[in-house]
Amino acid sequence: MSQAVVHILNGPNLNLLGTREPGIYGTTTLADIEALCRAEAERHGLDLVFRQTNHEGDLVEMIHAARGALGIVLNAGAYTHTSVALRDAISAAGVSTVEVHLSNVFAREDFRHHSYLSPVARGVICGFGAMSYVLAIAALAASRTLPA
Ligand code: DQA
Repeated sequence: MSQAVVHILNGPNLNLLGTREPGIYGTTTLADIEALCRAEAERHGLDLVFRQTNHEGDLVEMIHAARGALGIVLNAGAYTHTSVALRDAISAAGVSTVEVHLSNVFAREDFRHHSYLSPVARGVICGFGAMSYVLAIAALAASRTLPA
């Protein structure tokens, strides 16, 4: 029997993690985060798709491509605060989506306090660095046995 799959989708500028504003995002690279996610997925018997793009439309298509998955872990970066298209894609895909952020967006500028995605997300995890992703995978894994 094939394993359930979780899609980890990363938006703009996250390819630069490691050197991007290390005072905010630390020195962990996206490859480091992928390795942590793969270890966590394996622990829960989940298959993992891990992707990054700097383009909004590509993210929309990646969300569509996740239809049928157990869940999506989405760090949409700045598109979180701007994109109705991503919000509609999450609603259309009908896949349980965890919005994640490395930083605590509520401790930052006002414009980061609003998310177009949160109202259609299953949940939101922010402020724990790379652990935000790991916690999101654990939450999706638990959702297989816990009520919604
Ligand atoms: C981010 C927070 C966003 O506000 C920002 O635009 C990012 C990264 C985070 O992971 O903390 O690009 O999503």
